[in-house]
Amino acid sequence: MSAEFTPMNRRKMLKTMALGAAGTMAYSTLSHATEAVTTPNFPLNLQNLSPQELAQDESFWAQIALFYDKAPNIINLEHGYWGKMSTPVQSNFIENTQMVNKHLSVYARKHYRNDMQLSSNEVAKALGAKNEEIALTRNASESIHNLIRQYKGLTSRDTVLYTDIDYPSFKDTMRWLGDTNNLKAVELTLPAQATQQQILDIYIKAFEQYPSTKLMLLTHVSNQHGLVLPVAEIAKVAKQKGIDIICDCAQSWGLLDFKITDLNVDWAGFNLHKWIGSPVGVGALYMKERSLEKVHPYPGEHDASNTNVNARVHMATSNFASILSIPAALDFHHKIGGANKEARLLYLQNLWTSKARKMQHIEVLGGLDKASSTGMASFRLVGQSSKEEVSALQKRLELEFGIFTVIRVGLASGCCIRITPQVFTTAHNMHQFVLALEEIADSA
Ligand SMILES: Cc1ncc(COP(=O)(O)O)c(C=O)c1O
Repeated sequence: MSAEFTPMNRRKMLKTMALGAAGTMAYSTLSHATEAVTTPNFPLNLQNLSPQELAQDESFWAQIALFYDKAPNIINLEHGYWGKMSTPVQSNFIENTQMVNKHLSVYARKHYRNDMQLSSNEVAKALGAKNEEIALTRNASESIHNLIRQYKGLTSRDTVLYTDIDYPSFKDTMRWLGDTNNLKAVELTLPAQATQQQILDIYIKAFEQYPSTKLMLLTHVSNQHGLVLPVAEIAKVAKQKGIDIICDCAQSWGLLDFKITDLNVDWAGFNLHKWIGSPVGVGALYMKERSLEKVHPYPGEHDASNTNVNARVHMATSNFASILSIPAALDFHHKIGGANKEARLLYLQNLWTSKARKMQHIEVLGGLDKASSTGMASFRLVGQSSKEEVSALQKRLELEFGIFTVIRVGLASGCCIRITPQVFTTAHNMHQFVLALEEIADSA
C-alpha cells in the first residue's frame, strides 16, 4: 500500500548515486525515514457484500473515513472541486516532494522521464487503454483545451456543438473555436432533470437539425448537477454521421466506475485529482490509437507519423511529486473499489434527494433514472434560480446550518446549489443536510 510505497525507480536511483554518480552523497542522506504513523486497518468486506449492500454499511465506510484527515466544524458537501487525498497518498506525496526537493535536477534529469512514463502506464492500465494512448497532463482543462484548440481542418461551413451542462471554460473555448473559424458554434440545452433516453433523443434531433456538425464536446458527468450522459450511445449515432467527439471525463472517472472503451469515444480528458484522489496537478489525455491525425501536435512539436499522444501536450516543469504519487492514488482507489465508491456516493445522494423531491419548495436537479445519476446532484428553491437568490441560499446553509456547498451558474434553466458528498461523508451528515432542507423549505 501507499504508506510503504517506494517511489518508482528510486531504489535504482539510490543505488546509482551511492555507487558514485552523486559523488559524496551517502545513502542515509538520500533516504527518507518514513514517519511511524499508525495506519488504521483497511476494512474487509468479509461477507462479500455487493457494492449496493456495502454502500449501506456505515461501519465499513467509517473505517474508510479513518484514512482521511477530518476537517472540524463544518459539514463539507462540496467535494466536486477536487478530492481529499487519503493519508497513505498524502504521506507518499510528502515523501515524493521531499525526495524531489532534495535531489532536484539530478533526479529530474536522470530519472523522472522514466518514472513519469511508469505513472502514465498505470493510468492507462486503470482506464483500460494502451500505454501509447495516454499522455499525462496537469489537469483535465489542459487535456480538453488542447484537443479543442488543436483540432484540424474546420471551415466556415462546419458546425460545432456543445451544451449548457458543459464545463463553463470549455463552452467558452467552443465559442472561441466558432469565432476563430467563422463557423457556427451551437449550444444545445439539456433538461435540468433527464433520463438517458431523453438526452439521447435530444442529440439525435440536434444531429438532424445541424447536419454540418463536425465536432462535438460531450461531458460524461456534468459539473452542474452530476447528470450522466449516455456517451456511448450518443457516440454511436455521431460516428455514423462522421462527427468527432471530445469527451470531458473530468468529473466522471472515479465518481463512476468505467473503462475508456465503455464510452466509445476516440478522445477524452481526465484528471486524477478529483475522484481518484491524487495530489492536485494530475490530468490525462486519451487519444485512441490511429486517431491522432485529426489533432495537431502542440504548436512547435512534431509528430510526422501521428502516433505520439505526448506530442499533443507540452507539460514543461510540472509538479513532479504529484505525478510520482499516481500509483499510490490508484492503489488506494482500487483498494476501496471503483464500483463500491460509485455505489456509496450514489447511496449518499439518494439519502437526500429521495427526501428533497418530496419537499414542496425544493427542485432537485440531475438524473431521473439510475444510469443518469451520480453521487453528485443539485437543488434550488422552486422559482428561485437567479445568482443572487441561490447565493443567498448557499450562504444560509453555511452560516445557519454549518453546511458548506457551492453555487453553479452554468445551466440554461438558472443557478443551483451542488451537493457532493465524499467517501468519508456519513449518512448522518446527509441526514443533517435533509433537516436543514426541511427547515429551509418550511420557511420558503
Ligand atoms: C466537468 C468538468 N470538466 C472539466 C473540469 C476541469 O478540471 P481540471 O480542474 O482538472 O482542469 C472540471 C472541474 O471542476 C469539471 O467539473
